[in-house]
Amino acid sequence: MSFVEVAKMDEVPEGSMKHVEEGDTEILLVNVEGKIYAVSDRCGHMNARLSMGRLQGTTVICPLHASQFDVTTGKNIKEPVLTSIPGEEKVPALKKYSERLEKIIAPVKTYDLPTFQVKIEGENILVNIH
Ligand code: FES
Repeated sequence: MSFVEVAKMDEVPEGSMKHVEEGDTEILLVNVEGKIYAVSDRCGHMNARLSMGRLQGTTVICPLHASQFDVTTGKNIKEPVLTSIPGEEKVPALKKYSERLEKIIAPVKTYDLPTFQVKIEGENILVNIH
């Protein structure tokens, strides 16, 4: 186990998220009611940065296709939403492209997020990088 300091408590206010990096590891820190959780900051669907999404309670919603993950467990709790391109019905080539894109994206599996142990020392947030 190797815990490393990745942020200060005041950088992650209650109800907020923060992206941090340690080496090649991208981590999403989340403050839920004063408790800090750490999960991968890469969506288990197609790698979008989850810290650019929205947080609702313990759920982070991916900014790209709206997959949802529980930040306390890393579990995928809602599959991606594959929406059509606005105005595609008026442009045949765009509709064809949208249909092809949907065929490519639909079978992509959405994985649970890796989680990281968190330790608080004073004002410092430490994460166990595996
Ligand atoms: S990349 Fe996150 S839902 Fe598709």
